[in-house]
Amino acid sequence: MIGEVTMREGGRQGLTSGPRVSVPDRKVPHVRDLRAAVAGLRGEVRFGASLHEFTSFRIGGPADALCFPADVEDLSRLVRQAKTEKIPIFVLGGTNLLVRDRGIRGLVVSLSKLTAVRDEPDSVVYAEGGVGMPTLMKHAISRSLTGLEWAAGIPGTLGGSVVMNAGTRLGEMRQVLKAVRLVDPKGKILDVPASAIWFSYRRAKLPRGIVAGAWLQLRPGNREQIETVVKEYLHHRRDTQPLAQPSAGCVFKNPPNDAAGRLIEAAGMKGARVGDAQVSEKHANFVVNLGRARAADVIALIKQVGRAVEEQTGITLELELKIVGQP
Ligand code: EPU
Repeated sequence: MIGEVTMREGGRQGLTSGPRVSVPDRKVPHVRDLRAAVAGLRGEVRFGASLHEFTSFRIGGPADALCFPADVEDLSRLVRQAKTEKIPIFVLGGTNLLVRDRGIRGLVVSLSKLTAVRDEPDSVVYAEGGVGMPTLMKHAISRSLTGLEWAAGIPGTLGGSVVMNAGTRLGEMRQVLKAVRLVDPKGKILDVPASAIWFSYRRAKLPRGIVAGAWLQLRPGNREQIETVVKEYLHHRRDTQPLAQPSAGCVFKNPPNDAAGRLIEAAGMKGARVGDAQVSEKHANFVVNLGRARAADVIALIKQVGRAVEEQTGITLELELKIVGQP
């Protein structure tokens, strides 16, 4: 999932009436208001930037303004100014994301400059929202800290992983999360203990705001043992998932006591294609971009997949992928 927002994204997204978009159709903001919203930003701003190069799917239309705040204070200032100018903000975090072809109105914020990691007493690690999970994993290994092995192979950022309570069969974010640093919709920086967050499968219900950082409670461990678990797990993923092709990770959530990949394969959809979007031959719960896939191709394909599974099994798959942007 991308670092991530979010000023609240769409929740359950069944496929019966087609995937729902979590960002409503919006008017293009006035250039003057956009400029006022980003005024004085110490980081970087790119107007009209195409988002395809910033998503793991390599798909996505333009952002009116793509912003890279320099640090948490810069992010807070941006949120305050955007509120004053009434410009919507979307935080680009993730790898479980599909940005539609017409892009996203308003400010799109990337936390890729928020990359600080520091050790705190009692095996606690604080990291900013833009830190990649692989980087965090390496940090934990270098300090012989155990508890994060489940995240081996998760490609997204810490912020995105917190927002969606990222996890694998080995574990999930809720097990290590101690507290979260948020920038709330008014731009205020606040720290929220994990006890105040409600977690469920691939979801953390946080107060509204942007995850700017998080404290993880790890434990002293044996470096070799940690490395062995991580390596085995990475090998398993490389063998079973199309990691070399652009994708957004798993498209559907696993239904209770079953696997979406198994159901999709059983419904005969492995390899199905719409344009350059294809149901992976390696793992049926991945859609891969063979080159020039558009968001519209992916959406048409996942609707076909959802329908096929429903017809064959009566099970309605729920989207794990977040679809955002202008319909
Ligand atoms: N399967 C098939 N055909 C396929 C793919 C899978 O029959 O094309 C079967 C497998 O043989 C296995 C079962 O489905 O019996 C489960 O497959 P797998 O072990 O690959 O795990 P998964 O449930 O499909 C989950 C997570 C992945 C995570 C892996 C590894 C979800 C929806 N998926 O996949 O997460 O990487 O476990 O821990 O929770 C993601 O969140 O983006 C993601 C890819």
